Amino acid sequence: MSEYVQAVDLVKVFKLGNVEVQALRGLSMSVEKGEMVAIVGPSGSGKTTMLNIFGGIMRATAGMTRIAGRDVTNATPAELGRLRRDVVGHIFQELNLIPTLTAYENVELPMLAAKVPSSKRKERVEELLTIVGLEDRMKHKPDELSGGQRQRVAIAAAMANNPEVLLADEPTGDLDSETGAQIVEFLHAINKEYGKTVIMVTHDSSIARQADRIYRIQDGRIRSVQTPSADKDVTAVSRVEIVQERISELKEEISKLDTRAKQGQVEMSEFAKRRTRLEEKLSLFEEELHRLGL
Ligand SMILES: Nc1ncnc2c1ncn2[C@@H]1O[C@H](COP(=O)(O)OP(=O)(O)OP(=O)(O)O)[C@@H](O)[C@H]1O
Ligand SMILES: [Mg+2]
Repeated sequence: MSEYVQAVDLVKVFKLGNVEVQALRGLSMSVEKGEMVAIVGPSGSGKTTMLNIFGGIMRATAGMTRIAGRDVTNATPAELGRLRRDVVGHIFQELNLIPTLTAYENVELPMLAAKVPSSKRKERVEELLTIVGLEDRMKHKPDELSGGQRQRVAIAAAMANNPEVLLADEPTGDLDSETGAQIVEFLHAINKEYGKTVIMVTHDSSIARQADRIYRIQDGRIRSVQTPSADKDVTAVSRVEIVQERISELKEEISKLDTRAKQGQVEMSEFAKRRTRLEEKLSLFEEELHRLGL
């Protein structure tokens, strides 16, 4: 059960000419069927890349991927196409809707691709737009809707072919907190009432806390996992977080000190003394992190 959605040692390297970017560096995580999981982490840490691999949009350079119980590591392009159409619903970080189509047509589009008969399509589009509270906005085009309404249309479109897994990349990104909370309520309802597995990327910790589990990504790897409802785990993770924060502060202090030394703003003897002290502290915290299992 725990391997419903799974990544094992995922590596993703992007090549731009001679430059290589390692977006994922051995990322492993798993999500159970029916779970709602939040992914948090700094900009550029690999969240969208990971979601795109789960969504069958790109392949990993190495590692194993399982989605809705299927091993899709070596899926062919046609199999990935079917995965995108039938198995996952994907709400992207941007550009979810086609600007020239109405809300109705945007939700209908994935069903046309899946060759759903027209009478069924009508029923389902109306049902989905009603679920997200937009039954009176069906004929509106994206630029005639508010940001929150557009995101609700995107949710309805992602649900069009009744996917088993819903992937949402910063679904509340540009929205004010109240509208954002409303969007998360819809995702919650989809998770709880329809039993869909939801994986949501967010930078908002109050939104992340509403998930069953929170995975924190940093530099293309999972750094911690937190269960918001289980106090015990929260304390364990908080300790990890405090130590991690202290480590990054110390690294920053060291790099500032180096810069000042290079600019001749610190005397060499003073520099050596301070740097040794910082390095000693840093290694203590790194040992502590190791003890905590990371
Ligand atoms: N198509 C691409 N080609 C080259 N590099 C890429 C590509 N897509 C992403 N990257 C790089 O991979 C890294 C991870 O990017 P990703 O979009 O996964 O980050 P993210 O965690 O989603 O960030 P954000 O919070 O800003 O959305 C970044 O350094 C990015 O520059
Ligand atoms: Mg992103």
